[in-house]
Formats: sequence, structure tokens, C-alpha cells
Amino acid sequence: MVDIVSSSGRFHFAQHRRWLPGLVSSYKTLFASLWVAVFMAVFLWQSSSIGSGIGYFGWATPPPMRTVPRLRAVAYNLTDFGGVGDGKTLNTEAFERAVAAIARLARKGGGQLNVPPGLWLTAPFNLTSHMTLFLAEGAEILGLQDENYWPLMPPLPSYGYGREHKGPRYGSLIHGQNLKDVVITGHNGTINGQGQSWWTKYKRRILNYTRGPLVQLMWSRDIIISNITLRDSPFWTLHPYDCKNVTVSNVTILAPVSGAPNTDGIDPDSCEDMVIENCYICVGDDGIAIKSGWDQYGIAYGRPSANILIRNVTVRSVVSAGVSIGSEMSGGVSNVSIENLHVWESRRAVRIKTAPGRGGYVRDISYRNLTFDNVRVGIVIKTDYNEHPDEGFDPKAVPVLKNISYVQVHGYGVRVPVRIHGSEEIPIKDITFQDISIGITYKKKHIFQCSFVEGRVIGYVFPTPCENLDLYDEHGRLVKRSMSQNSTDIDYDV
Ligand SMILES: *[C@@H]1O[C@H](CO)[C@@H](O)[C@H](O)[C@H]1NC(C)=O
Ligand SMILES: *[C@@H]1O[C@H](CO)[C@@H](O)[C@H](O)[C@H]1NC(C)=O
Ligand SMILES: *[C@@H]1O[C@H](CO)[C@@H](O)[C@H](O)[C@H]1NC(C)=O
Ligand SMILES: *[C@@H]1O[C@H](CO)[C@@H](O)[C@H](O)[C@H]1NC(C)=O
Ligand SMILES: *[C@@H]1O[C@H](CO)[C@@H](O)[C@H](O)[C@H]1NC(C)=O
Ligand SMILES: *[C@@H]1O[C@H](CO)[C@@H](O)[C@H](O)[C@H]1NC(C)=O
Ligand SMILES: *[C@@H]1O[C@H](CO)[C@@H](O)[C@H](O)[C@H]1NC(C)=O
Ligand SMILES: *[C@@H]1O[C@H](CO)[C@@H](O)[C@H](O)[C@H]1NC(C)=O
Ligand SMILES: *[C@@H]1O[C@H](CO)[C@@H](O)[C@H](O)[C@H]1NC(C)=O
Ligand SMILES: *[C@@H]1O[C@H](CO)[C@@H](O)[C@H](O)[C@H]1NC(C)=O
Ligand SMILES: *[C@@H]1O[C@H](CO)[C@@H](O)[C@H](O)[C@H]1NC(C)=O
Ligand SMILES: *[C@@H]1O[C@H](CO)[C@@H](O)[C@H](O)[C@H]1NC(C)=O
Repeated sequence: MVDIVSSSGRFHFAQHRRWLPGLVSSYKTLFASLWVAVFMAVFLWQSSSIGSGIGYFGWATPPPMRTVPRLRAVAYNLTDFGGVGDGKTLNTEAFERAVAAIARLARKGGGQLNVPPGLWLTAPFNLTSHMTLFLAEGAEILGLQDENYWPLMPPLPSYGYGREHKGPRYGSLIHGQNLKDVVITGHNGTINGQGQSWWTKYKRRILNYTRGPLVQLMWSRDIIISNITLRDSPFWTLHPYDCKNVTVSNVTILAPVSGAPNTDGIDPDSCEDMVIENCYICVGDDGIAIKSGWDQYGIAYGRPSANILIRNVTVRSVVSAGVSIGSEMSGGVSNVSIENLHVWESRRAVRIKTAPGRGGYVRDISYRNLTFDNVRVGIVIKTDYNEHPDEGFDPKAVPVLKNISYVQVHGYGVRVPVRIHGSEEIPIKDITFQDISIGITYKKKHIFQCSFVEGRVIGYVFPTPCENLDLYDEHGRLVKRSMSQNSTDIDYDV
């Protein structure tokens, strides 16, 4: 087993000095070799300190390498384990050997695995506890496209099925179960799922199992994912499942805005104490979708998503929504704050989606300082998202939706600013709108749509709110109580 501890990746001058003595046979050659040495020193200084591109004499030089910080007592380099970053060699065993070496350091604070610049093709592999995976600038982990190398796993207990097919599902490219203290970070290196072949096979219906996520951590805690780029996942991109204490910070998530089915950005699923901040997400489905299991399976598993903070995030979702809650929310979702969110060129901005059969609840949700920039529908609540795992769901298991506030929401180029579609079975209670001004595209009627909603508007709100809501002035004094909470003005054709 390899057990070398390598230092950081700085250029070593020492090995270039070794050939000098052989040349020194006369003063002339000494002079010449001194001249060469000075020239070399200047050249090396030039190529290591000046920016990327073309060097002193027109030779191409590699980009300057940022020194990789040492974040654990022990740091390995993937090349120590036989890794080859040529985009063709399979590195699965190198990753597995590195992870095994770090697993042996658990009692000494764990270890760091540096992935240097290069293209590192790999099949799925598992992480271990007390591990930092560091992706250098220019490092890219590439997911192998051949599904025969992707292990099958049992369905998630709160879903009962793979999400797309009955029975097992593919695991994720980078996976972990029952871990603690895991960090995936870097100088904006990339994990690339090369999802195109998966999307094509999915659309042609030739896959027999549900596609795997890019990064999935299950039953784990104390997780940090920061300063990296995740792109082209086969399925959901980052999926923390039944985890606690997860921070996602300064992460870029990319997938084609259309033709990349189900490439959600981040799916906190039955997770508690989670922060998502300073992220840029542009994907082929929901940017962020908070979940907690599907119908009778989610109700039985019974693990909510709670205490989630999302702030300073920019999202684009041409096909779906910037930030969603649901539709799988059967374990319940509560205490979610969404602040300083910018949604642009998207179909919907923020959406809560559920249906009879889900059970559970969505409550204590606070949206603040949202900016909508050219979105079709701004604020959405939908209670008839009738997609069920099988016929075994209980239609009487209705979710409870209450205590949801939208404060400081601005925007432009929005076709329908608000569509809150409650129903007789699933009325929406205790909803608040305050400080709302959303620039609309052209139509002035049926653009603040409501049905079975009870709640209030505080102060000035544009466009004119639906008649279902009580009106308060900016000092919180009741102006007019609504007599028509159940009236319906929902128009999906606008
Ligand atoms: C890892 O090893 C490779 C090859 O030996 C080297 O080029 C690179 O600088 C090393 N990187 C780090 C971070 O140690
Ligand atoms: C990762 O660990 C899980 C759970 O132990 C296992 O089912 C799976 O096969 C492992 N994946 C790989 C690629 O080794
Ligand atoms: C975000 O990541 C980039 C690239 O690694 C880095 O330059 C920047 O300092 C990071 N910003 C924060 C707030 O961490
Ligand atoms: C990180 O890389 C992605 C993809 O290359 C890029 O879009 C993003 O701007 C980079 N982030 C930073 C902070 O440099
Ligand atoms: C799906 O199953 C069928 C029938 O067993 C098989 O012929 C086909 O190769 C499988 N497809 C994939 C992508 O594994
Ligand atoms: C959450 O995880 C971070 C990172 O591992 C850790 O520093 C922190 O102590 C954890 N917080 C709690 C409350 O466990
Ligand atoms: C992200 O990178 C920046 C700059 O390199 C660094 O200051 C910051 O601590 C990193 N953040 C995390 C959470 O790793
Ligand atoms: C907000 O996030 C962006 C990255 O999406 C980052 O560049 C910026 O520094 C963050 N702003 C604050 C106030 O943290
Ligand atoms: C709600 O979540 C926040 C974190 O976003 C946490 O600080 C707070 O304690 C939670 N509130 C309750 C009542 O659990
Ligand atoms: C509102 O969010 C935007 C980012 O979308 C940010 O630039 C601005 O500072 C935030 N305003 C307040 C008052 O927090
Ligand atoms: C409503 O939700 C907010 C968090 O968004 C929470 O602070 C408040 O206590 C909740 N109100 C009730 C009556 O539960
Ligand atoms: C509105 O409908 C709910 C059932 O969803 C019912 O309990 C309530 O009494 C109705 N309110 C009015 C004013 O008709």
C-alpha cells in the first residue's frame, strides 16, 4: 500500500542544478554555464510568476499553480496512488486506494486528498469520514459514462423506488454513507458527471434503473462542500439524504438549461441544519429542491427537512423553478429561510409543490429579498402535483401548508407574479405578503392568482393582491378583512 506524504506542488529548482558540475571543465565553460544558469533562473522565474499564456521567448507556459493549502495533518496527492490525469486512464482504483489510506488516519484527524490539474476519469467511488477532497485549479474529475461500472443500490427508504424505475437505482459518482466530517473543496476544480450520454439514454428509454446523482451523501453529518464547480450530472447534482449539519458555500452548479432532464442543482432531502450560500446555479431542472420523501414511503420514514438557510444564491431554471419545496415532502418541511435570492430567465422563481397523498407539512417558511429577472411565474404554490410512486398512496393523507411569508420581493419582466393554488382539501393558511413590487410584462388582470388562501397583505403590494387576503397598513393595522378566502382565480393560460 502506498503511504507517501507529498509536499505541495511547487517547482523544484534543485533537480536542474544537478547537471551543472559536469560542464565545468574550463573558465570558458564555467562562464558559459553560469550564463546558462542565470538565463534558466530568469526563465523559470518568468514562467512561474507571470500569468498564463505565452512565456518570455514565445513558448507556451502552464498557468501559475496556486499553492494547495494543507487542511489536514496528512495530505496525499492522487498521483501517489497511481492516478493519471489524461482523461482516458481509469482512476477508480487510485481514488479507492487513497480513500482507504485516509480511512486509516481517522484517529489522527483524517487526511486530505489533492487532485492536481488534469482530467481524472473514474467510475463511482465512496468517500470516508474525516476526509478532505481538494480539487486544484484546473482539476476535473470525469464520471465514466458506461453504466455497467455504476453500482446498483437499494431504493431510498423514503421513496420506496428508484425515482424513475421500480427496484434498485444507480449509486452516485461520488458517494458516502454514515460518514462524519467530510469536506469537498478546492480552487474551483470541477466534478463533471458527463451526463449527456445518460440524458440521451433516459430519453430513449433504454435505462432499466433510476439514474445516479453526481454527489450523494447519506446518513452523514458535519459536511462542507465549497469552492468547487459541479457540472453535467446524470440526474440530481448534489443530494444530501438524511444528513445533519451541511454547508454548501461558493459552489457553481451547471448543466444545460434544457435537454438535461432532472439535473436539479441541490436537493436537501430529510436534512436538518443546512446552509446553502454564495452559490451560482444554472441547470436543467430545479435550482434547489427541498424534499423529505414520497407519499406512503416518506410518511413511514418520517424524517423532515428542517432548519435550512439559503442566502445569496443566483439561479436560472428555464424548465422548472429557482427554489422549490417538494413535491416529495411527506416527512415534512419546516423552518426554511430563503434570503437574497436572484432568479433570472426562469420558468418559475420560487415554488412549493405537493398533492393529496403526500401527508406531511410545509410550514414556517420565510422568503426575504427576492429578485425576479424575467421569469414567467414568480411565486407559486401548487397543491395538485399528482405524481405518485404507485397506487398504494392514501388520498386522505393531505399535507398542511401554513405560515409562509414573502417579504421584499422585487422584479421585472414577470408574466404572473403570484399563483397560490390551494384547494378545499389543502387550503393554505397564514400567508403574508409585504413590500412586494414586481414589474409585469403586459397583462394586468389575473396576475395575482389565488384559491383557498388565508392570510394578509401588509402595506403596499404591487400588483394588486387577490381579494382572498386581509389588508393591513404599513403599521400593521387592519384595514379590511377578507370575506372570500376560498374564492378562486387561477388561470394557467396567462
Ligand atoms: C501531485 O503530483 C504531481 C505529479 O507528481 C505533481 O505534478 C503535482 O504538482 C502534485 N500536486 C500536489 C498538490 O502535490
Ligand atoms: C459505497 O458504499 C455503499 C454502502 O456501503 C455500497 O453499497 C456501494 O457499493 C459502495 N460503492 C462503491 C462504488 O464502492
Ligand atoms: C469562491 O471561490 C473562488 C474560486 O475558488 C475564490 O477565488 C473566492 O475567493 C471564493 N469566494 C468565497 C467567498 O469563498
Ligand atoms: C468557477 O468555475 C466555473 C466554471 O468554470 C465558472 O463559471 C465560475 O465563474 C468560477 N468561479 C469563480 C469564483 O471563479
Ligand atoms: C435493460 O434490460 C434489457 C433486458 O434485460 C437489456 O437487454 C438491456 O441491455 C438493459 N439496458 C441497459 C442500459 O442496461
Ligand atoms: C458542523 O460541521 C462543521 C464542519 O465539520 C463543524 O465545524 C461544526 O462543529 C459542526 N457543528 C455542529 C453543531 O456540530
Ligand atoms: C473558499 O476559498 C476562499 C479563497 O480561496 C477561502 O478564503 C475560503 O475560506 C474558502 N471557503 C471555504 C468554505 O472553504
Ligand atoms: C454572493 O455570492 C457570490 C457568488 O455567487 C459571491 O461572489 C459574493 O461574494 C457573495 N456575496 C456575499 C455578500 O457574500
Ligand atoms: C430555524 O433555523 C435556523 C437556521 O436556519 C436556526 O438557527 C433556528 O434555531 C431554527 N429555529 C427553530 C425554532 O428551530
Ligand atoms: C438583496 O439581495 C441582493 C442579491 O440578490 C443583494 O445584492 C442585496 O444586497 C440584498 N439586499 C439586502 C437589503 O439585503
Ligand atoms: C412562522 O414562521 C416563522 C419562521 O419563518 C417563525 O419565526 C414563527 O415563529 C412562525 N410562527 C408561528 C405562529 O409558528
Ligand atoms: C373555506 O374552505 C375551508 C375548507 O377548505 C372551510 O373550512 C372554510 O370554512 C371556508 N371558508 C369560507 C369563508 O367559506
